[in-house]
Amino acid sequence: MDVRTASLPPEGYRLTISPTGVVLEVADAAGEVYGRETLRQLAGPAAFRVAGFAPASVPCGVVEDHPRFGWRGCLLDVARHFRTKAEVLRFVDLLAAHKLNVLNLHLTDDQGWRFEVPEYPRLTSVGGWRPSSMVGSGGEQDGRPHGGCYTGDDLREIVAYASARAITVVPEIDIPGHARAALAAYPSLGTSSSYEVWTSWGISTSLLSPTASTLDFFRTVFDHLLEIFPSPVIALGGDETPGATDEHRAFVRQLAEHLVARGRTPMGWDEVLDIDGLPPMVIGSWQNEEAGVRAASAGHDVVMCPEQHVYLDHRQSPDPGEPIPVGWVHTLEDVYTYEPALTGPRLRGVQAQVWSEHLDSVRRVDYMAFPRLSAFAEVAWSSGSRDYAEFLPRLRDHHLPRLDALGVEYRPLDGPHPWQTRPGVPGRPR
Ligand code: ACM
Repeated sequence: MDVRTASLPPEGYRLTISPTGVVLEVADAAGEVYGRETLRQLAGPAAFRVAGFAPASVPCGVVEDHPRFGWRGCLLDVARHFRTKAEVLRFVDLLAAHKLNVLNLHLTDDQGWRFEVPEYPRLTSVGGWRPSSMVGSGGEQDGRPHGGCYTGDDLREIVAYASARAITVVPEIDIPGHARAALAAYPSLGTSSSYEVWTSWGISTSLLSPTASTLDFFRTVFDHLLEIFPSPVIALGGDETPGATDEHRAFVRQLAEHLVARGRTPMGWDEVLDIDGLPPMVIGSWQNEEAGVRAASAGHDVVMCPEQHVYLDHRQSPDPGEPIPVGWVHTLEDVYTYEPALTGPRLRGVQAQVWSEHLDSVRRVDYMAFPRLSAFAEVAWSSGSRDYAEFLPRLRDHHLPRLDALGVEYRPLDGPHPWQTRPGVPGRPR
C-alpha cells in the first residue's frame, strides 16, 4: 500500500482501491490508523482474526472520511474489578477497531487502588485488594479475595500500545470521594483510625480529609501519574461526595490547579461545577445533559457521557433475565440514536462508560460493552442522520461477524446465551 500525507481534516483519510493497487492519503498518524482499519473492514471478517487469514481481494472504490468529534471515548473501570494488563491491551484493540480514540482508565475507587506509587507502597499492598465482593446488588458476599495492580512499566506499555493505535489513555484518580482504598492504605488521609477497602457497591460516605498533608500526598501521587501518562487531560473524579464541605471543594480545586501548573488540563465529573474558582477544565457530563450545557456556559470543555444514555453497565433490555440487571434500560437502539444535547465549540465529544461493579470477568465486559459500543462508535464518528433500521442489518450481516472473528462475546441481538445469564444474582433496575 502506498501511504501519503494530504490536506484533509484532522484524523481524516482517503482510501483509493483500484485494480492497480491501494493508495492511502492521510491527514496525520491517526488518519493512517483509520484508513488501514477501513481497509481491514473491506477485506471481510476473516481479516479480524490474528492468524489464518490470506487476503484475497477487496472491492474497488474510494472512501474519504474523518470523524465528527475529536473525543470518542470509552471509560473502563479497572478499580471495581481489576482487568489484567493483557485484557486492557485487548480492550485497546477493540477500541481501535471501532475508531474510538480515548480510553478513560478509572484506576482508583473505594474497592481498589490499581497502580503502584513508589512513595506510597501501601496504596497497592493494602489498597490493591479486598477480601470479598458483594454479589450483585443484594447483601450477599462471595468471600473471595479480589485484587491486582499495574506497575509503572505496565502502564507505560498500555500507553504506548494505545498511542500506536491513535488512542490517548486519560487516567483517572478519583478524589475526594471514591477513595476508601487509599484511606485503608493510609488512614491518616481521613478522619477515622482505620478503614477497609470496601467490599460493597454504592456510594461511600468516607471522604479524604481536605488537609494540607492530604493535599501534599495527592500532589505526589498525581506527579507520579504525570510521569507515566502524556495525556494532555488528567482526570481527578470529584463525583458523589456526600457530606462534602467547602474545604473538600477547595481541595479539589487545588489539585486541579496543580495539574494546570504542570501543563495539563484537569477533567472532573459534573459535580465539580459546584466548586468556585475552578480553572478551565474538561467536564464529564454524566448526571444529565443539562450539566454539560451548564459547564459549557461556565467556560469549560465538555465530554457528554450521560447515564441516561451511554452507561454500558446498565441493562440492555427490560427482560428480568438480563444478567445482573442494574440501571436503566439502554437498548442497542437507544445507544445508536443518542445525540448530545450540547452543540458548539465547547463540546469535545462523547464517551461511553463501562463501570465494572457487576462485571467480574472480561467475558462480562464483552457482554455489556458489545455490540452497544459498536453502535456508540458511529454516534462518535459519523455526522448526519442515523437510522436504526439501516444500521441493524449492517451490524448483523457485517459487523457481528467481525466481532466473532475478534473473539468478542457480545450480547446476541435476541438476548443472552444461557451461559451469559446469572440466575439468582439480584440487580437494581431503575
Ligand atoms: C459516575 O458515574 N459516578 C461518574
